[in-house]
Amino acid sequence: MCGIVGYIGKKQACDILLEGLKRLEYRGYDSAGVAVIRDNELIVEKSKGRITTLENKISDKLQSATTGIAHTRWATHGEPNEANAHPHTDHTGKIALVHNGIIENFASLRKYLESQNIEFTSETDSEVLAKLIGHFYKEGNLEQAVRDALSEVQGTYGIAVICSDCPDKIVAARKGSPLIVGIGNDEFIVASDASAIIEHTNQVIYLSDGEMVTVNAEGFRTTTLDDVPVTKDIQQLEWKLEEIELDGFEHFMLKEIFEQPQSLRTCMRGRINTREGAIHLGGIANYTRELARAHRFIFTACGTAWHAGLIGEYLFEELARLPAETEYSSEFRYRNPIIEDGSVICAISQSGETADTLAALREAKEKGALAIGIVNTVGSTIARETDAGIYLHVGPEIGVASTKAFTGQIAVLAMLGAYLGRRRHLSQHNFEQFISALEKIPDQIEEVLNLSNTIRQIAGDLFECEHWLYLGRGYNYPVALEGALKIKEISYVHAEGMPAAEMKHGPIALVNPGMPAVFIATHSSQYDKILGNIEEVKARGGKVVAVITKGDSQLAKKCDYIFEVPQTPEPLEPLLTVVPLQLLAYHVAVLRGCNIDKPRNLAKSVTVE
Ligand code: AGP
Ligand code: GLU
Repeated sequence: MCGIVGYIGKKQACDILLEGLKRLEYRGYDSAGVAVIRDNELIVEKSKGRITTLENKISDKLQSATTGIAHTRWATHGEPNEANAHPHTDHTGKIALVHNGIIENFASLRKYLESQNIEFTSETDSEVLAKLIGHFYKEGNLEQAVRDALSEVQGTYGIAVICSDCPDKIVAARKGSPLIVGIGNDEFIVASDASAIIEHTNQVIYLSDGEMVTVNAEGFRTTTLDDVPVTKDIQQLEWKLEEIELDGFEHFMLKEIFEQPQSLRTCMRGRINTREGAIHLGGIANYTRELARAHRFIFTACGTAWHAGLIGEYLFEELARLPAETEYSSEFRYRNPIIEDGSVICAISQSGETADTLAALREAKEKGALAIGIVNTVGSTIARETDAGIYLHVGPEIGVASTKAFTGQIAVLAMLGAYLGRRRHLSQHNFEQFISALEKIPDQIEEVLNLSNTIRQIAGDLFECEHWLYLGRGYNYPVALEGALKIKEISYVHAEGMPAAEMKHGPIALVNPGMPAVFIATHSSQYDKILGNIEEVKARGGKVVAVITKGDSQLAKKCDYIFEVPQTPEPLEPLLTVVPLQLLAYHVAVLRGCNIDKPRNLAKSVTVE
C-alpha cells in the first residue's frame, strides 16, 4: 500500500526521505518520488519501479535541501508510470503534494479546474488535489489553501504538502488514511507508518480523521479543518528499530514465522496467570459485564484476519457458549446489517487501517453495537475508533503474508473466549486446564519450527504443482483456508481451502494423479471422518500431505508426506497446525523464485476499498 514520508529539520532531507521510503517498501507499491525545497526552489524527482531507480536519479541539486516530502504509490487512478507517480505539483510549480487514498469526486473537480485553464500532466485523482490547492493558494497562506481544497473533496486522504514560498513548513492532513508525526530534536518526520519514523524518534502524535497539522523546525500546530486548535498527546512508539530489520533471516516472512514462540509469549505476558488461575485483559476490563452478557458476537475482518475470526467463532461457542458469526468486512458494510441489543462488533485487523474493516466497524457502531478491536498496530485508526480492545503485542509485521499476527489473533481470541467463558458456563477447573495448555503453545511451536528443513525438502518435490487442495474440519477448517491463502499469495499457485467434507460436493472432481491435497488430520473429534476424506483423494491418485498429531504412525503410513505437531486441546490446535503450512508456502515460493516479502499485486495494508 502507498506510503508517505515528510522531513523538516537541519539534516539532508533527501537521505532521510529515501531511507523512509525503503522502510515503507514492505507495504507494496509501484512507483515513487520525492520533492524538496532548496533556495526557495521546488525540485521534484519521480520514477516507476523500485526506490533504487529513484535513488539513481537524485542529483546533487536535491542533496542540500532540509525540507521535503516523498511517496510510494499503489496506483488506483492511472497506470503505474513516472507521470502518475507522486509528488504532484500545482499549476505554478510552487506547491507539491503526496497523497494516500482516493479522491472520489476527482473527475468533477478536474473538469472545473480545466475550465479555469489549468492543465494536467497525469491521469491521477491526486494531481487534481494538488492543482486545487494551487487554485486556492494566495498571499502565502498554504494552510488556508489546503483547508479550502479539502472542503471540496469527497473521499479519503492522507496528504503532506510543501510550498517554495514557505520552505520552513510541511502541512499535512488526514481523512481515512493514517498519518503520524514523529517529534525529534529540532526535526520532524511526517509519515503514514511508524516504520519510517522509528529510527529517528519514538515520540509521536497520531492525527485523527478531519485533522491537519503544520510542522516547522520549531514545532507543530494541530487543528481541525475549520482551524480550531486541537491538543494532541505525545505518545511513545512501542516498536524498536531492530524489530523492523531482517536480523540474519533471508526474508521478513521467515523471520516472523520463527518469531512466533516469542511473539506469543509477549502477546500473553501479563494476561495469563496460571498460578492465580486467571486471565487479565485490561483493554476490555471496563466492558466485561456487557461482553459476558452479549447476545451475539460479530467478527468482522478481511483475509487472514477473517480466518482468525472463523476460529474465534468456534472458540466463543465452545468456551463461552456465546453465539458468534464472522463476516467479510467488505460484505458486511454494505448489507445494512441487523444489529439488535446485546450485539458486539469485533474488528480483527493487524494493521488497524484496512478500509473495509474500518467501514464495517463504523456501520455496526452506527447501529448501536458495542465495538471492540483485536489489533496489532497501536494507535491505528481501527484501534482508536473502538470502545475497547486488545492489542496483539506481537511486534511489527513487515512481511505482506501475515503469519505471527494470525497466531497472535488466535491467542487473543482464545484468551478472550476463556475470559468470558469463566464468567458464563466454564468451570474453574476446565478454565485452568485450558490456560495451562495455552501457556505451553510457544514451546510447542518451537518444536514444530524444527520441521523447517524437512518441509523444504517436501517443497522440493511439490513446488512445480500448479493446483492444490487444503482440507480441514472443525477448528482446522479455517486453518485449511489460511494455508491455501498463504501459498496462493506468495507462490501464485492456485490453491483452494474448504471443509474436508465439502470435497465430495464438487471439488473432488479436481483431483488429478499427483495433485497435492493438504489435510489437517490431527487427533481431533472428527479424526475418523477426515481419514475417509484422505482415502477418497488417494483413490484418485492425489498426493496426500497431512498435518498429523505426533506419533500417529497408523495415519502416517497412509500419507505421502506428513508434518507432525504435538498434542494440544482441539481449540488450540490451529496455533500449531498453521505453522507447517506457513513454512510449506514459504519454501514453495522460494523454490518458485517468487518475491517473498513483496508479492506481486499485493499490499500489506489495504487502505483503499
Ligand atoms: C494476509 O496474509 C494478507 N496479506 C491479507 O489477507 C490481510 O490479512 C488482510 O488484508 C487484512 O489485513 P489487516 O489484518 O491488516 O486488516
Ligand atoms: N489514488 C492515488 C493514485 O492513484 C493514490 C494511491 C495511493 O494511495 O498510493 O495515485
